[in-house]
Amino acid sequence: MKYDFTTIMDRAGHDAIAVDLPEKQMGNFSGFTRREGFDTIPMWVADMNFPTVPTIQQAMIERINHPAFGYFMPRDEYFDSIIRWHKERNHVEGLTKENIGYENGVLGGVISAVNILCSKGDNILVHSPTYIGFTMVLTNNGYNIVHTPLYKDEENIWRMDYEDMEKKIIENNIHAAIICNPHNPCGRVWTKEELAKCMEIFEKHQVYVISDEIWSDLMLNGNTHTPTQMINDYAKEHTIAFYAPSKTFNLAGLIGSYHIVYNKWLKDRLDKESSLTHYNAMNVLSMHALIGAYKDEGYEWLDQLKEVLSDNVNYAYDFIMNNFEGITLSKPEATYMLYLDCKEYCQKHNLTIHDMLMKAYEYGVFWQDGEQFVQPYTIRMNLALPHARVVEALDRLNKYVIEK
Ligand SMILES: Cc1ncc(COP(=O)(O)O)c(C=O)c1O
Repeated sequence: MKYDFTTIMDRAGHDAIAVDLPEKQMGNFSGFTRREGFDTIPMWVADMNFPTVPTIQQAMIERINHPAFGYFMPRDEYFDSIIRWHKERNHVEGLTKENIGYENGVLGGVISAVNILCSKGDNILVHSPTYIGFTMVLTNNGYNIVHTPLYKDEENIWRMDYEDMEKKIIENNIHAAIICNPHNPCGRVWTKEELAKCMEIFEKHQVYVISDEIWSDLMLNGNTHTPTQMINDYAKEHTIAFYAPSKTFNLAGLIGSYHIVYNKWLKDRLDKESSLTHYNAMNVLSMHALIGAYKDEGYEWLDQLKEVLSDNVNYAYDFIMNNFEGITLSKPEATYMLYLDCKEYCQKHNLTIHDMLMKAYEYGVFWQDGEQFVQPYTIRMNLALPHARVVEALDRLNKYVIEK
């Protein structure tokens, strides 16, 4: 491979919560004794243990070499890079500079969107399992989450329950819904048909859509992304969509996401709302980071990354299905997360998820409490690591953690 996805990066001392929090035994990572000889394998927070594409650093270094950092306007190159990215990767036609707006983060954007669509205390439809960030921002900002559960079908594929969605919309007088496309933590890539079915319900009840597509570049095993706005005219006019290079290129620490909105009225409202705090402002280096990421090398790097992630997911899925009796999972179609259902295992061995987490921490495997995503007996596991680390982590879990 042209790019490096095998070197084990030492992230300690380099501003990485992934390793710093477990090492310092802070937050959820307290109260365990680390056994000798087991180094940290970070498999929790949603960032990657790979060096990013070199064009990002090159673009930033080039800018740093010019010694003035005054007020600035986003370059046309910034917008052009985004337009080209969506055209080439998602087949989006007709996107213009006027439809794109900067956001510090996707979650901040979600709240700006909710603020223009709802009044405080309003009900918002969200699928469960639910990304913990949605739960935090919606409740912290005074909105009421109405969960509509996803379920696993006979083939173990997560599905939306359209009847439940419509029932909840009617019963709770809902006019705003969040769609996580693809879904974190379940890893589902929603198909055109599934999104169209949602839109039919949303149109019928005049529901606006906030579509979080932060994971949309990270398709596994040849899956393809359908932008929610591309479903039909209703979707295009009633959806506020969010994207970022942060998940794709491991840039969360640099800050910088963006929205795409086609409806001019919605776009103007959103721009106004997100400007009110005066905090939502682009950083010149992160602008150059995006431009560096969306260069030809970024396209090539991402294709290689997706191969690496697909291999990791395929390996881990087979390993768990073959060795961890009582633990089940649906194979993710996107993202780099596994969402393990440990109910049968926990009940058989009289364990809680906390017990399972702690036991793995002793052996350096830092996986994540999945119950935070509103689903009992679950663990989320990040596989964005060099393959050897994934093999090592599963081996440790098999030898020392999972009871037979
Ligand atoms: C679905 C989803 N949305 C948003 C975010 C966070 O985005 P940001 O850091 O841009 O607010 C994450 C991070 O894991 C995520 O998984």
